[in-house]
Amino acid sequence: MTENIHHLFRNKLPEQRIAKIESLSETRAHAVWKVTTDRSVFAVKHHIFAPLTRGKPYHLLAVEQKVTDLLLANGVSVPRIIATDHDMVIYEWCGDHTLDDICQTADPRPFTHSIINTLCALEKAFYKHRSKFIPHIAPGCSADDLREQWHSTTQSLTETLPALVRDPNAPDLLSTWETLTTELIQAPPVLGPTDYNARNIACPNPETATVLELAKIGYDWPERRLIQYTTSLGAHNPRGRIVGLLTPSLAQHYARFASKLYSNPIETILFRLDAHHLIYHISAAHICLTTPHWKNIKTRIAQHKNLISQPLSDHPLINKFRAYFEKK
Ligand SMILES: Nc1ncnc2c1ncn2[C@@H]1O[C@H](COP(=O)(O)OP(=O)(O)O)[C@@H](O)[C@H]1O
Ligand SMILES: [Mg+2]
Repeated sequence: MTENIHHLFRNKLPEQRIAKIESLSETRAHAVWKVTTDRSVFAVKHHIFAPLTRGKPYHLLAVEQKVTDLLLANGVSVPRIIATDHDMVIYEWCGDHTLDDICQTADPRPFTHSIINTLCALEKAFYKHRSKFIPHIAPGCSADDLREQWHSTTQSLTETLPALVRDPNAPDLLSTWETLTTELIQAPPVLGPTDYNARNIACPNPETATVLELAKIGYDWPERRLIQYTTSLGAHNPRGRIVGLLTPSLAQHYARFASKLYSNPIETILFRLDAHHLIYHISAAHICLTTPHWKNIKTRIAQHKNLISQPLSDHPLINKFRAYFEKK
């Protein structure tokens, strides 16, 4: 692969001499490197699955270029694409730290406002230009796919609920869960990136937050995206902790923004945000309890429960549901 990177730079940036190549990540779908030259630093990504999408409206590289151009034109902070050759892409380097790194090693609060502002700008640009993006939705990421996945996920969580609540035999636990998850499924999803987590926000300094991974787009609920972008799970660290950035006042800030964008009452947005926050932590606790590779499970479950107990709204249905988790 190193040879491919040298070849890419000889072709596309012949004036630059590579000084160092560091591997950042390798997944089934791609590999990512930090490439330092005599003049600058870049991120390079090999999109392994791009050939499978070539010629399709959801071609990963074409979508990423279109999304990046549109977002940059709308003032959203995303990495510039410097050059593309076959399935290799050179991006502008956006700093050494992601939101996840910051949450695991420092106090993320100074970064909060730029992160929320970037995420709001991203959401607004996608909503404003949705008709341009609709033809490029990736397979499996339609609104119907989302609802189907939501239904099966929330169904399977009913197995874990009793292990998390104070009284597993509470008579209306499952019917309240059903009401809550059905309310959420009826909310309109919107277009945006399909890969949203705290490692996809680069934070070079407290004033800048840049969103990574824009090659695949599809429908999701904006409140769910926001929760997942702003929650650090410390998943790759055996001593990792769970850190959620959202506070009631940030939730209010977001709800005011979204209320204007979608012409919806602030209370409705806060309800959805609070409910997705709660369900996200139940879902993460479920994964922790049902997949073998997690360390310090007891501590992680306690941290999820702690976040579940923190309200982001004052909605009666969520208050009722949250009460099941409260200690006596
Ligand atoms: N343009 C960039 N600038 C700085 N760091 C980057 C850049 N692109 C990727 N990274 C780093 O590499 C990691 C992996 O890249 P990413 O595109 O998110 O792929 P994946 O998460 O699927 O492995 C990111 O979480 C981030 O730490
Ligand atoms: Mg990523």
